[in-house]
Amino acid sequence: MRTKVAITGAGPAGLLLSHLLHLRGIDSVVLESRDRAYVERRQRAGMLEQGTVDVLRDSGVGERLDREGLTHHGIELRFGGTGHRVPLTELTGRTVTVYAQTEIVKDLIAARLAAGGEIRFGAEVLAVDASAPSVTYRQDGETHTLECDVIAGCDGFHGVSRRAVPGVTTYEREYPFGWLGVLADVAPSTDELIYAYSERGFALHSLRSPRISRLYLQVDPADDLAAWPDDRIWSELRARFATRDGWELRDGPILEKAITPMRGFVAEPMRHDRLFLAGDAAHIVPPTGAKGLNLAVSDVTVLAEALGAWYDSGSAELLDAYSGTCLKRVWRAEHFSYWMTTLLHRDPGQDAFGHRLQLSHLAYVAASKAAVTTLAENYVGAALTL
Ligand code: APR
Ligand code: PHB
Repeated sequence: MRTKVAITGAGPAGLLLSHLLHLRGIDSVVLESRDRAYVERRQRAGMLEQGTVDVLRDSGVGERLDREGLTHHGIELRFGGTGHRVPLTELTGRTVTVYAQTEIVKDLIAARLAAGGEIRFGAEVLAVDASAPSVTYRQDGETHTLECDVIAGCDGFHGVSRRAVPGVTTYEREYPFGWLGVLADVAPSTDELIYAYSERGFALHSLRSPRISRLYLQVDPADDLAAWPDDRIWSELRARFATRDGWELRDGPILEKAITPMRGFVAEPMRHDRLFLAGDAAHIVPPTGAKGLNLAVSDVTVLAEALGAWYDSGSAELLDAYSGTCLKRVWRAEHFSYWMTTLLHRDPGQDAFGHRLQLSHLAYVAASKAAVTTLAENYVGAALTL
C-alpha cells in the first residue's frame, strides 16, 4: 500500500490537511484510531479567528459555517460585578466566529468522502518511520504498513508520531486549573462571550447556537465529575457571573459535561526528516485564549503550501522553513494563552495581595486603549503573524 502523504489522526488538523492536499492534486490517506461517530461527537472548543474562517471558506468547506456560524464583534470581560466590553472589530478590523470544532470535523469528513478521499477509521497507528517513510497501523486485528513520501503527524497530544522525532525538546507548563465544560439545552443568556473573573474562580459563557449554550467553570483538575451535580454547576455559574445590576443566567438541562486539565506544551522542532507534526501533536495551549483549533488550521495551511511547492517544483525551501514558521505563531499563542489564563483564573496558591494585583490588571486592561488592543489583536489572531 502506498500514498503520497500518510496522515495520522482525523482531527481538524489531519482532515483539513487531507482536504487542502486534495485541492492541490496530492493524494493522502488519513488513519484514525477511533470510529467516525466518536470523532464527530467529541465536544471541543468553537471560536474561530477570521483567518481560520477564510481558510475553510476559500477551500470550499465553508457553506454550513457561513450559514450556521455566529459572527462576533466583541467579547465581555466581567469582574468586580461589572461587565466591560472588548470591541474586537473596532480595535482590529477583524471578527471572530463561533462554530463548534465538532461541526468543522463533520464538514471536513463529508467533503473528503464526497471527493473519494480515504479516511480509515478504527486504524490505530503503532509506529511511524520518518526516514524510510511509512506508517505501521492496526485495523480489524491486522497489522498493515502504509508507505509514503511524507508523514503528517496529526494524531493529537496523546498520539505516537511525536515520539518519532529523535532528540525532540519539549516545553511544558501544567496550570493548576481545570475546566468543567458544559453543553446546555438553553438559549444563551448573552449575545457575546463573557469571560468572568471572581474570587470564586473563572467562568466562561459561550454559545453554540441560538438554542444551545456552552459554559465553562474553573475547577480543580483533580475534581471528580460526581462532585459536580447539575444544580451545583448552575449555582456556581450564577455566583461567578453575578453582576451588581442583577444580570440573570438562564439554566436548562445539561446535555454533556467533562473536566479537562489545562496545560501549555510545545515540541521543537516540529519536523524530523520526512515527518511533520501539526496541531495538538506538536503543541497544546490552555483554552482561555481560544487558540488550539486556530493553531492546528494554521499549521496545516503552511504544510499544505510547502508540500504543494515541493511536489510542483522540487523545492524544499518551504518545507525546511515549516517548523520555524509554525513555532513563531505557536509561541505567540502560548504566551497569549498564558496571559489570558493568569489574568482570569484564581490561583489556589494565591494570597489576597495576588488577588488585588489581578483586579488591578483587569481594570487596566478594561480602561486602557493600549492594553485592550493588545488583548484584541491577539484574540482575533492579528498579532500571531507578527
Ligand atoms: N492512531 C490513529 N489516530 C490517532 C492515534 C493513533 N495512534 N492517536 C490519536 N489519534 C487520533 C485521535 O483519535 C484524534 O481523532 O488523532 C486525532 C487527533 O485529533 P485532535 O486531538 O482533535 O488534534 P488536532 O487535529 O491537532 O486538533 C487540534 O483539537 O484538542 C483540540 O484544542 C485542540 O482545537 C484543537 C484541536
Ligand atoms: C467555546 O465556545 O467552546 C470556547 C470559546 C472560547 C474559549 C474557549 C472555548 O476561549
